[in-house]
Amino acid sequence: MKKFKIINGPNLNLLGKREAVYGSRTLEDIQNLTKAKLQDKNISMDWFQSNIEGEIVDEIQSLVDSDYDGLVINPAAYSHTSVAIHDALKLLNIPIVEVHLTNVYSREEFRSQMLTAKAASKIMCGLKEHAYYLGIISLLEEEE
Ligand code: DQA
Repeated sequence: MKKFKIINGPNLNLLGKREAVYGSRTLEDIQNLTKAKLQDKNISMDWFQSNIEGEIVDEIQSLVDSDYDGLVINPAAYSHTSVAIHDALKLLNIPIVEVHLTNVYSREEFRSQMLTAKAASKIMCGLKEHAYYLGIISLLEEEE
């Protein structure tokens, strides 16, 4: 069985109440959709969300020398600012998919600076709630 960690950054706990660009689904809805889409796969997923940069760094560090097979991360606003999250991701030797619900390149200019993505194996943006299960499928395909 393959084991995946899914990390979500600030304000994603309030999906469903955010601007229209993020859609109406809550994070729990997205978790349920992701589980449903992957139900025929022999995998386990652990979801983590924090609004605090250091807690996200700690969670990434907990994956060092762990038995996880991959990480899907949406660092949210920290994607554009966090050298600390970038450096923590660089500690990992498992594949990392950075996902964004929205197409960050079609939005405000400040969202085009992508710091954490430089440490990811792949990035996906603009796929809305589909990004998470598609990210995990991409990791499974990679290992085949
Ligand atoms: C986001 C995009 C970020 O720019 C923003 O700060 C978020 C969410 C996305 O999933 O589209 O909070 O990561």
